[in-house]
Amino acid sequence: MSQHSTAPAPTSTNVTATPDWWRDAVIYQVYPRSFADSNADGMGDLEGVRSRLPYLRDLGVDAVWLSPFYASPQADAGYDVADYREVDPMFGSLLDADALIRDAHELNLRIIVDLVPNHSSDQHEWFKRAVAEGPGSPLRDRYHFRPGKGATGELPPNDWESVFGGPAWTRITEPDGTPGDWYLHLFAPEQPDFNWEHPAVGDEFRSVLRFWLDMGVDGFRIDVAHGLVKAEGLPDLGTHDQVKLLGNDVMPFFDQDGVHEIYREWRLVLDEYAGERIFVAEAWTPTIERTANYVRPDELHQAFNFQYLATYWDATELRSVIDRTLDAMRPVAAPATWVLSNHDVTRHATRFANEPGLGTQLRLAGDRALGLRRARAATLLMLALPGSAYVYQGEELGLPDVVDLSDEVRQDPAYFRGAGQDGFRDGCRVPIPWTREGSSYGFGAGGSWLPQPAEWAELSVEAQTGASGSTLELYRTALTARRVQPDLGAGDSVEWLTAPEGVLAFRRGRFVCVANTGGEAVTIPAYGEVLVASGELTVVDAEEAKLPADTTVWWTTG
Ligand code: GLC
Repeated sequence: MSQHSTAPAPTSTNVTATPDWWRDAVIYQVYPRSFADSNADGMGDLEGVRSRLPYLRDLGVDAVWLSPFYASPQADAGYDVADYREVDPMFGSLLDADALIRDAHELNLRIIVDLVPNHSSDQHEWFKRAVAEGPGSPLRDRYHFRPGKGATGELPPNDWESVFGGPAWTRITEPDGTPGDWYLHLFAPEQPDFNWEHPAVGDEFRSVLRFWLDMGVDGFRIDVAHGLVKAEGLPDLGTHDQVKLLGNDVMPFFDQDGVHEIYREWRLVLDEYAGERIFVAEAWTPTIERTANYVRPDELHQAFNFQYLATYWDATELRSVIDRTLDAMRPVAAPATWVLSNHDVTRHATRFANEPGLGTQLRLAGDRALGLRRARAATLLMLALPGSAYVYQGEELGLPDVVDLSDEVRQDPAYFRGAGQDGFRDGCRVPIPWTREGSSYGFGAGGSWLPQPAEWAELSVEAQTGASGSTLELYRTALTARRVQPDLGAGDSVEWLTAPEGVLAFRRGRFVCVANTGGEAVTIPAYGEVLVASGELTVVDAEEAKLPADTTVWWTTG
């Protein structure tokens, strides 16, 4: 791996030292391609993010997680890293990263960067040399190269499929022009999987961790944290129904127990650094209990709660997943996390606009007004739960997925490989509208890499700022309340209150949250003063209130 980049002098950490800040933090995900474009090339960049930091401070979030901005051919929007210590020129430079971290700290915002340890780009120095040096190159041991099966090695070494569809193996052409070994890629062919049994891989990543820790980052989101270790011998799965198994079963390439060794070592590295810096795992596991293994006290700090993300707007199911989450996290003393949207799934405003049971990859607009009402209510519910919450850029504007992008503009590799687990992810990656007018609604002065719908003018930050009842103001109010009222995010349990069918009600210290997931208005007790509500609530008298369908309210009880 190239060592040519030198980190700028260590960044001072000005962030207020709040012990355990991460346990109830609200962490905002920035997808750098689509947040703000400072140089009019139609692609967002780090300088764009820096210029919008005051917006994030005013929104009331605690930290910003940036999806990858490293040197990359962009075969998977930056999740194919060619140099882990370099910023892609498309996003800026290391100096821009340094300036961004410094400015964020001045504003009391923490910065979490994305680390991609399961695979590199096929343009990474190690991989290029592994191929170029021919069979027997020791660099091939840092990836999973294998001879093919069949008389002439024409068949892949095993039956694993790529998460994006098609075989998880690609055959290389050797330097002499003959067909050669195959290499493993659980994602696109441009993303070869590292062999974590090789000590050089672990050494390299501990060094990469230090590089960014020295730059002053406050933590890492670990991409495909469940994938690093593969079952010994790379055994066949024995089925071609892999897509159905993903996320439901332990696979020979996902959630293997060996990954935990790696995270124990990483934790030791992180703990050498001052300040409370954190790891959050992207670990798709079959159960919340298995997710909890990643956040044992000597491993990572948080793991995304994908079981919660995959739950529909339904009181019974929500209560069950909330209880299961809290029960699973308590024994390991890790905070629960809650998330509704990210760059890999259809936005929740669109998921909830559609029927239940359709999964998280949709291309259907559904009933937009219904989806928005439910999305606002779902967010307010999420922000009243104990633990840490993740917000994906644009959800504070109530953005829906863009479901009608043409094939010409799409860039998600999963879309083109088809039949995989993912596929429609461009719909949630459309650049953010900042203003009512102007090129790309204020995203930048040079258009946007994915087209924005004309209706987004009225969803822009400008249109919603100060507009009573807007989704942006709802987020601001709720996030500010959460910051000044520690009861809302603290603790590891909720006290459930009796509620009509389809309604969730629970107490959190001096607060009560009531969410009506049903299709009809319900009469509920007036628990106190209304702090914030996602829709129009009618307070009937001192005793009772009417909560409309698909609406959540927070009460202060004294
Ligand atoms: C993670 C990322 C996703 C990416 C994949 C491969 O799931 O969130 O965007 O395509 O890993 O790196």
